[in-house]
Amino acid sequence: MTKVSMTVNGKAASGEAEGRTLLSSFLREELGLTGTHVGCDTSQCGACVVHVNGVAVKSCTMLAAEAEGAEVATIEGQAAPDGTLNVIQQAFQDHHGLQCGFCTPGMVMSAAALLKDNPKPSEQEIREYLEGNLCRCTGYHNIVKAILAASGQDASAIAAE
Ligand code: FES
Ligand code: FES
Repeated sequence: MTKVSMTVNGKAASGEAEGRTLLSSFLREELGLTGTHVGCDTSQCGACVVHVNGVAVKSCTMLAAEAEGAEVATIEGQAAPDGTLNVIQQAFQDHHGLQCGFCTPGMVMSAAALLKDNPKPSEQEIREYLEGNLCRCTGYHNIVKAILAASGQDASAIAAE
């Protein structure tokens, strides 16, 4: 085991990790940040998406040791300290972009990365960007609506499922 240190949601964080420990496991089990979900561990589902140095990453595809010294952002850091949801989280709530919620942390983190690079994505661009994020519940329509709304665009043209 070696000590791994990084900045998580703006605060210094460190813990013990084996060489093979995945960043997703480190966040959940060593730092107690269980908002990052693990649905597959094989880079399929996107439930584990976090940002590493500002880039969306499936945290089950990265070793904790590779994040040494990095700036990591997880779902726990998205709302304001008083619990006020950020614009993407609020839009998911307003547009019913979740049902069971398992995929939601990864969806929100992916959406945040998309909107950072492309503040006004089209419906098609949103659907293409989310190809790596699987949702078993919603049929995606309301997720797309939520992201359109979060970007300040009219979401009413998206047909309800
Ligand atoms: S747990 Fe990482 S992609 Fe599914
Ligand atoms: S809301 Fe259940 S998997 Fe997406």
